[in-house]
Amino acid sequence: MKSPRSIIAALTLAVGVGVGAPNTIEAQEDVVEYRQSLMQAFRMHMGGVGAAMGDAAPMGHAVHHAQAFHGMAQALANAFPGGSEGGRALPTIWSDSDGFMDSVTAIQTATASLVEAAESGDAEAVGAAMQAVRGTCSGCHQTFRGPASQ
Ligand code: HEC
Repeated sequence: MKSPRSIIAALTLAVGVGVGAPNTIEAQEDVVEYRQSLMQAFRMHMGGVGAAMGDAAPMGHAVHHAQAFHGMAQALANAFPGGSEGGRALPTIWSDSDGFMDSVTAIQTATASLVEAAESGDAEAVGAAMQAVRGTCSGCHQTFRGPASQ
């Protein structure tokens, strides 16, 4: 049986994160798929916070979603390694890596505020924090995401 550590190492290799640039087409496709899954998680947790602020879920769930959301935003920083061009990622991600990292930092900061707001239980603060988070999505997409393929 494989040790948990070697399983984790195998997963890390498969995803191509933590080992520098992915060096096969397949690894590159896996990285693209992985970062798209982070984006789907963003969308899901944003919906989860919204549900918790409405009648669909207990208010306390907002904290769980906000924390997971912030974790995904932390992970975003390493989801675009050099050589992982593909999907709708624009080349500006790598040519203007400082600008791209500013956008990553923006969502990390905004989701940290969302966690605080959710913990406070103040619906108005959560609403404002959600608005700020949404701004970071579109801010990055405008500059760094290309159009959907036909
Ligand atoms: C730092 C930049 C950045 C931020 C912030 C960001 N995105 Fe994205 N997003 C991208 C890029 C780049 C792509 C295209 C990735 C690819 O296809 O490789 C993308 C793709 C997506 C996709 C399509 C995923 C798929 O399955 O193809 C969704 C949905 C999405 N983003 C939602 C969000 C939401 C919601 C937020 C905010 C909560 C957000 N994104 C924040 C850069 C960002």
